[in-house]
Amino acid sequence: MDYAEDKHKEEREAMNGSVDSWREVILVYTSALHQVQTKLEILNDEFQHVHRYNPIEHIKGRIKTPESIVKKLKKNGRESTIDNMIQYVNDIAGIRIICSFSSDIYRIAEILRNQKDITVISEKDYITYPKASGYKSYHMIVTVPVYLSDRTIDAKVEIQIRTVAMDFWASLEHKIHYKFEGNAPENLKKELVDCAKMVSDLDNRMEQLNEQIQGLESGYENEEY
Ligand code: GTP
Ligand code: MG
Repeated sequence: MDYAEDKHKEEREAMNGSVDSWREVILVYTSALHQVQTKLEILNDEFQHVHRYNPIEHIKGRIKTPESIVKKLKKNGRESTIDNMIQYVNDIAGIRIICSFSSDIYRIAEILRNQKDITVISEKDYITYPKASGYKSYHMIVTVPVYLSDRTIDAKVEIQIRTVAMDFWASLEHKIHYKFEGNAPENLKKELVDCAKMVSDLDNRMEQLNEQIQGLESGYENEEY
């Protein structure tokens, strides 16, 4: 058995639950993730059909690893139990929606908010109010019902919506943050804040450019290249 496998076993055992209940929880979150992903694919297909336009560039979904779940609970001073993980870890199921334009972000958030079987738990607009790091993104914590054979469970999904440019920035910032274990040198932090400003300027200019060309008829519209 390699180290990674061994470690997983340890984390699962630290959950104070049987491997079966751990598996069941992960199964529920995985179906919640699939449901939201499917909803988004349908929305994107519909947009393409009606408006000849894809608001979503791509979607990334992931289930948090057992190590990260335990780490997060520990960081917040909580015991590693299945109950605590369900109650306090909001991003066991996580989806990142990458759009071309800032306006798409709000459009997608609004559509999700209006879906009957989606319940919004919280929303954070880090686009209007960026983090001190320069981070921009729109966050939603929602629940979707997962229908099991004998009961229905409302499972939480964390949705992050951002532009391609914001995503590019966040990936590099995350890499730097990770490398320096959260204590990056001041000059790097400052450089990142500067880059975040450039990302915002780029997003704004691209949005304006897009608005301008929307009004123009073009024979090349929608042509793949
Ligand atoms: P955690 O940061 O996950 O403990 O939760 P929180 O309650 O502080 O929520 P928040 O909405 O601030 O952040 C949730 C997620 O957004 C994080 O897990 C990251 O994926 C992402 N995020 C938040 N801030 C930053 C940031 O400064 N840089 C990057 N790269 N990602 C961030
Ligand atoms: Mg997180």
